[in-house]
Amino acid sequence: MARDFDIDAIRAEFPILSREVNGKPLIYLDNAASAQKPNAVIDGMADQMRTAYANVHRGLHTLANETTETFEAGRETVRDFINAPSANQVIFTKGGTEAINLVASGIAAEIQPGDEIVLSVMEHHSNIVPWHFLRERHGAVLRWVEVDANGALDMAALEAAVGPKTRLVAATHMSNVLGTVTDAARITEIAHAAGAEVLFDGCQAGVHLDVDVQALDCDYYVLTGHKIYGPTGIGALYGKAEALARLRPYQGGGEMIEVVERDRVTYNEAPHKFEAGTPPIIEAVGFGAAINWLSQFDMGEVQAHEHALYERALEGVRGVNGLTVHGTAPGKGAVLSFSIEGTHPHDLAQLLDRYGVAVRAGHHCAQPLMQHLGVSATARASFGIYNTAAEVDAFIEALHKARGMLI
Ligand SMILES: Cc1ncc(COP(=O)(O)O)c(C=O)c1O
Repeated sequence: MARDFDIDAIRAEFPILSREVNGKPLIYLDNAASAQKPNAVIDGMADQMRTAYANVHRGLHTLANETTETFEAGRETVRDFINAPSANQVIFTKGGTEAINLVASGIAAEIQPGDEIVLSVMEHHSNIVPWHFLRERHGAVLRWVEVDANGALDMAALEAAVGPKTRLVAATHMSNVLGTVTDAARITEIAHAAGAEVLFDGCQAGVHLDVDVQALDCDYYVLTGHKIYGPTGIGALYGKAEALARLRPYQGGGEMIEVVERDRVTYNEAPHKFEAGTPPIIEAVGFGAAINWLSQFDMGEVQAHEHALYERALEGVRGVNGLTVHGTAPGKGAVLSFSIEGTHPHDLAQLLDRYGVAVRAGHHCAQPLMQHLGVSATARASFGIYNTAAEVDAFIEALHKARGMLI
């Protein structure tokens, strides 16, 4: 049975939400950049260090075994969260960026000059630059798919871009700027029909959508911990078993080997093959705690709450003169990017901070999208499980004041 969606009780579990910023109650609307942490995560990590800390795997003593158990329980929690067939298909990384670099580096040796990687223009730099490496170093060609005026992915253009030379389609499952949710199952069909693999960047989707990697049939899926109310320094890569068996290891070191001799080395199997060195143990424990915390709730109820906040904010910003909203695709997530004519987003964000409102301003690590939109930056309010309607109203009021000061 899902836990009751009681917003006061939820907020009470996030200690940071009771602090003030510039003499005003904190209104944290920067969740798409990184979310705050509940006590379950903070205490879970601290308790692990207080009571059962040691290095994981190969331990022959109690603390090593206990730490390994909790660390591997974190992996099982991630597996269950995305419905992966096996925990061996969940690789811990230091975040979403490392997970994508792991795949790009792993397939690099297979790339022939002229092989194509298909990307959308709304990708985060994490899902662009690793593919630029393949372009620069291995002669891969990047093919870009546009978004329409609402910010929805142009599926006809995607179909046209994918062809016999496509090695991989790398697409966001939810844009960090526009909030657009892509039709991931259809993207997979298009990629697979051409014999290409597909990778989804689920750094934003992981916290807002129900993700089922088997239903999506994707080859790779990327998650990050710090946006799912978990710690920084941890993320996960899901891969199909055959893909992980084929991928070259990303880094060399302890844990990822089977046998090391003077003139030869053989590798362990996934996930260990991709987890060289001491992994982020405490962070994995925190990642598991965050997912367990979030999983108490009915995801539909969480989505409805966040969507209602987004709709309220959208309604509110419509009353602000000269304001343009970027991204209005149907079914989008709770991310509101906007520009106000005659103001710079950085100035807006700084003035909002005076009222205790934290929003992000900049290119959001999505410069190709900024070029597509014809702006250098936007301001962005992004909503999470603990935000309230009253906070949205205070944000809109502060926005009016900030605009008044700048124009
Ligand atoms: C869509 C998207 N992809 C990738 C990333 C990078 O994830 P990480 O911070 O875990 O490296 C982010 C973070 O901002 C993101 O929003």
